[in-house]
Amino acid sequence: MIKNLLRKFLYASLIVIVGLQFYQPSRNDSGDNSKSVETRFEIPVDVKSVLEQSCYDCHSNYTNYPWYANIQPVGIWLQNHIKDGKKHLNFSTLGDRPAYLQQHKMEEIEEMIREDEMPMRSYTLIHRAAALNASQKEAIIKWTKVVRDSLAARFPLDSLRMPARKK
Ligand code: HEC
Repeated sequence: MIKNLLRKFLYASLIVIVGLQFYQPSRNDSGDNSKSVETRFEIPVDVKSVLEQSCYDCHSNYTNYPWYANIQPVGIWLQNHIKDGKKHLNFSTLGDRPAYLQQHKMEEIEEMIREDEMPMRSYTLIHRAAALNASQKEAIIKWTKVVRDSLAARFPLDSLRMPARKK
């Protein structure tokens, strides 16, 4: 009796897993670079390559997918992560956002790097090369300061303050 139930349960699970493979979430690789951060701010080559390697999978319009993204529900889980990451920060559109938001994102980037919150631990566990060393962290933080200085030089300070309840 129990054995029968177990067998039915296993078969049902197998059918669900196989069925899920027919659903492939759409890919995050739009190819549009016209609003990316480097259209607006200078970005040193070494900083750009670190951002590309350590952040762009979740914070740009270009995700470099691993093979297992083809396997569901892993791909669906990845897609949700990417959606969430892009909602908070998207380097591919940051060039086109209001100055106060660019300013704010630069502050957040510095904070995330200083507190070792980004790149996410679950990501660096698998993508070892994405983990940042001290000089890479330093380079990113320095760049966020250069960007903030260039914004401060171009805009009056009060226009760089985040309006209440906007993000
Ligand atoms: C594996 C995906 C992933 C990678 C890689 C990643 N992030 Fe994130 N990031 C997220 C997600 C998801 C969120 C939103 C949820 C959260 O704050 O944990 C986020 C949020 C952020 C935020 C906004 C925090 C806030 O207060 O709203 C910043 C800034 C950020 N990430 C910077 C970076 C930087 C810089 C890198 C590279 C050094 C990076 N992230 C790498 C997924 C990622």
